[in-house]
Amino acid sequence: MLPDKVTIVDVGARDGLQNEPGVVPTEVKIELIQRLADAGLPVVEATAFVSPKWVPQMADHDAVLRGIRRKPGVRYPVLTPNLKGFEAAVAAGAEEVAVCGAASESFSRKNINCSIAESLERFAPVVEAAKARGIRVRGYVSCVLGCPYEGEIAPDAVARVADALYRMGCYQISLGDTIGTGTPLKARRMVDAVAERVPLAHLAAHFHDTYGQALANLYAVLEQGIRTIDSSVAGLGGCPYAKGASGNVATEDVVYMLNGMGVETGVDLDALIATGHWICDILGREPASKVSKARRG
Ligand code: HMG
Ligand code: MG
Repeated sequence: MLPDKVTIVDVGARDGLQNEPGVVPTEVKIELIQRLADAGLPVVEATAFVSPKWVPQMADHDAVLRGIRRKPGVRYPVLTPNLKGFEAAVAAGAEEVAVCGAASESFSRKNINCSIAESLERFAPVVEAAKARGIRVRGYVSCVLGCPYEGEIAPDAVARVADALYRMGCYQISLGDTIGTGTPLKARRMVDAVAERVPLAHLAAHFHDTYGQALANLYAVLEQGIRTIDSSVAGLGGCPYAKGASGNVATEDVVYMLNGMGVETGVDLDALIATGHWICDILGREPASKVSKARRG
């Protein structure tokens, strides 16, 4: 059954911009985040407190988080893969953070330079420190429907990592189809396996659209009971450690689909489309969103 309401987490300013080849000015990132909040997005992932040597595009994380005008009621999570990142994020005013695990050993090593077991050991003190400060932690699991290095990933491998993050204290587990190879029935089987260990109400779908399957996959898992969707304005992005990955499913396309099915998101589609065109004009490209392309005057 479809829900009355879905929460959309726009990850464009982080997942979207982390992979940009050129430098995106800090003021542009700040304006993007503010425009998204003004368009009605309830959660706008702002930046990543990761090593600037690994992801140079996120090197201005401090200035971005300090620079945004926060809209009451809107949450601005930031990625913090270790305690160093967490402490810097808190000093810059983070009120919600995210740790980034993976269901694939190889991806874990490429992305955060450690095994899955080691990553869980690194995340535990982050979650502890966050709890002590009343800061909520999202837990990402990457490669839930395929890995650029290992191919197929067993649903049980996803469920084990999701379970570990949930039991550690992550309030929500975001299931990442990092390279967008999933298809609807596989997505459903994966969510079934995870939901045996983590309540559906605590899961989010974070699907990339590399193979054009993201909306179909989202529809499949919405019917299962997923109520939070990660997407990125204009479909920006990719992952520096997943060659060939395109951006997340475009927020505009998700909102259009949900609007058409009478599912409330609180997002103003016209304002969102305008924001997608604005950022794409600055980046010198067309939005990946089909809805945006159709609506360009
Ligand atoms: P490491 O090299 O193993 O860490 O990197 P280290 O503790 O040995 O430190 C090495 C150097 O990094 C030191 O500096 C540290 O100070 C520094 P040096 O002494 O060489 O000058 N350092 C840091 N600097 C700033 N912020 C930090 C930090 N930590 C250490 N937090 C680390 C480990 C995790 C830091 C590194 O591997 C890294 O930054 N990786 C980047 C991960 C990333 O951002 N990936 C993309 C996001 S994940 C994603 O997109 C998937 C997702 O969207 C879901 C999906 O689609 O599946 C979430
Ligand atoms: Mg992603």
